[in-house]
Amino acid sequence: MTPSLLLPARSSTNPESFAEYRARGGYDGLQRARTQGAAWLRGEVATSLLRGRGGASFPTARKWELAANATADQKFVVANGGEHEPGSDKDRHLVQRHPHAVIEGLALAGLATGASQGYLYLIEDMHGPRASAEQALREANDAGLLPFPIAIHLGPTTYVAGEETAALNAIEGKPAKPRKKPPFPGEAGLFGKPTTVNNTETLAHVAWIARNSGASFAAIGTAESKGTLLFTLPSGGDGVLRPGVYELPFGATYRQLLEGLGGGLQPGRTLRAILPALSCGFLPAQHLDVPIAYETLRPLGTSPGCGGIKLVTDATDTVAMTLGIAEFFMKEQCGQCPPCRMETNQFVHILKGVQNAKGPGYDDKLVKLAEFSRKKGFCSLIEMAAAPVTSALRVFAADFAKAAGPAALAND
Ligand SMILES: Cc1cc2nc3c(=O)[nH]c(=O)nc-3n(C[C@H](O)[C@H](O)[C@H](O)COP(=O)(O)O)c2cc1C
Ligand code: SF4
Repeated sequence: MTPSLLLPARSSTNPESFAEYRARGGYDGLQRARTQGAAWLRGEVATSLLRGRGGASFPTARKWELAANATADQKFVVANGGEHEPGSDKDRHLVQRHPHAVIEGLALAGLATGASQGYLYLIEDMHGPRASAEQALREANDAGLLPFPIAIHLGPTTYVAGEETAALNAIEGKPAKPRKKPPFPGEAGLFGKPTTVNNTETLAHVAWIARNSGASFAAIGTAESKGTLLFTLPSGGDGVLRPGVYELPFGATYRQLLEGLGGGLQPGRTLRAILPALSCGFLPAQHLDVPIAYETLRPLGTSPGCGGIKLVTDATDTVAMTLGIAEFFMKEQCGQCPPCRMETNQFVHILKGVQNAKGPGYDDKLVKLAEFSRKKGFCSLIEMAAAPVTSALRVFAADFAKAAGPAALAND
């Protein structure tokens, strides 16, 4: 059985106290990295094959190289806890319950890249996580463990404020909207200086790697997907009996997660599919025993994403669910890029047409819109909005055809 790397069962306090974190080797990795140096730490993270847990699964060591190799009089590091995806609770949970792991990881990422100032970026409604983080920062500071100052910054409660360059704008006091890239934050980020932005879960993994070695981390998981991953299981009618945040190693299955940890569906419900995260493709229930990994889910048209799972049962109206997701992205897009405004608005318009039995032709229009819009935004929300919609058309084709009705009814 793989140990819990991020959510240790023996942590009895909430938040985990400084003493308890130290007792399980907390901050040992940071002290070691201060002795061994930045190159050693970057090497351990490269060996670990850690990928970012903010959704895009970018290799952490490669991201770090950009800022580490940049020449500048000042560099920054940011822990991104700007989680505002419906159904995802893992960053709040981690920062609230295990703030020291995130702070240690943030300090390590800063050491690895040569930063002299760090930020823990949360959003305004995260009262519990903020209180935990403030206390943990005081404790780590009083113990003389922090290699540079770390401040907490609260961004606005919007989805797009979690995008890394939107977060940088928010920290600079500007509207939290994504920047055009390049330049990437590792080249010119906060106040134009090289900046490393990592998700809070990624950073908690970095703390584990510095303590236990990159090779130990790489020994957990599958060929291309290493370590463990946090998941959020939903509550309510289309939820599981034991909702909450769980940790499993890559290579485990969604069946183990939903049935073993989550206790299964509400009585009488049958699972048709899962949506591994809001901006992913749907995974039909026949694949519940496929090992969870980037390389196994990719051919099935989806990915683990940030692990905020939605369930599709026999009671789910799949057209209404897809429309709800499209409406979320339409509301949350920031309006800077005309193709994104157009795509997200049109998705909603066409899906409402399906719901109102306007007849066939919707699938071609939706797929063409998604193809036309690809890579035309400042950020990847434009692709994120398309993923569940185009996937729903394939996985729930019969539901859509039934809702849209016959051609004779077409009048739009
Ligand atoms: C619309 C949008 C929202 C995002 N929200 C978050 C978020 O809440 N938290 C997060 O860590 N990354 C979020 N990201 C991804 C970040 O831009 C960035 O890739 C991530 O923080 C990098 O960390 P990682 O390499 O450790 O995954 C979002 C991206 C987009 C396009
Ligand atoms: S792609 Fe959409 S959300 Fe991203 S910056 Fe452009 S308008 Fe905003």
